[in-house]
Amino acid sequence: METDPNLLVGRETSDDAGVYKLRDDLALIQTLDFFTPIVNDPYRFGQIAAVNALSDIYAMGGQPLTAMNIVCFPKKTLDKSVLKEILKGGLQKIHEAGALLVGGHSVDDVELKYGLSITGIVHPDKIMTNAGARPGDHLILTKPIGTGIIATALKAKSASLEAEEAMISMMIQSNRSAAEAMQDIGAHGCTDITGFGLLGHSLEMATASKCGMTLYASRVPIIPYALKYAQMGLVPGGTHANRNFCHHSLNVDSGVSTYMLDILSDAQTSGGLLISIAQDRSSLLLKKLHERGLSEAVIIGEISGDSKDPFITVLP
Ligand code: CO
Ligand code: CO
Ligand code: CO
Repeated sequence: METDPNLLVGRETSDDAGVYKLRDDLALIQTLDFFTPIVNDPYRFGQIAAVNALSDIYAMGGQPLTAMNIVCFPKKTLDKSVLKEILKGGLQKIHEAGALLVGGHSVDDVELKYGLSITGIVHPDKIMTNAGARPGDHLILTKPIGTGIIATALKAKSASLEAEEAMISMMIQSNRSAAEAMQDIGAHGCTDITGFGLLGHSLEMATASKCGMTLYASRVPIIPYALKYAQMGLVPGGTHANRNFCHHSLNVDSGVSTYMLDILSDAQTSGGLLISIAQDRSSLLLKKLHERGLSEAVIIGEISGDSKDPFITVLP
């Protein structure tokens, strides 16, 4: 493992991004993410990929400055106009974030992939890691979950237009205002919900913070139809892998259905922030989040106390 006094966040705690201190009042945040398309529309795929990549900067409490594109493109089988639309969507979200596109790299590949590397800054005292949760904290989730399941239904041509639109509008919604509200009110810890699902990223937070955690399944906001598609078995492989990975660290109440566990484990793209905040400040943060249009932000659980063996209790 890398050790350096200026390396404030490295790989040890499975956090969202690396953080390197430049000066006492300035640290650099770096992150990288890319993946295959999850929607058919190239412009919106570009938007989703950019919002997803920017999210790791926001999850660390930072401000994005510059972006670089990473492109794998099958130039023999796809028209160049598709790539143009993807990059246009990405650029729109980079600009919306107040950041600049400064470069990138593309290779010829059989499968299309797009993503970005983002560089941001943060004051070293304002860094939000996943290791900061404290016993007694409330856990706030800022966006509904279920994108992996709906994307799977979409691929199986079983998704309703309403579910597809709900999923896309969720994925292109930036975590910027949530992060700003979190910094205004002051939170203890944060991470964003992506590939390891709500349970996987919660477990990372519990482990890094050396705490236990209680989640209330019925409080977790879910994108319309995701529960129905989970019941139909439209669950991506990554979601089952997440469930198996978390299995030994979970204490699941018998009142929580298997479908609900699928949803809670569902691999997300461009998910919301999971924020750990002192109990007496959580209602103030919720109010701020709702004022900023994040109407589905809600308290989904709490940090249940120190635990030698990190675990999550899932209650109905
Ligand atoms: Co992340
Ligand atoms: Co990431
Ligand atoms: Co190059």
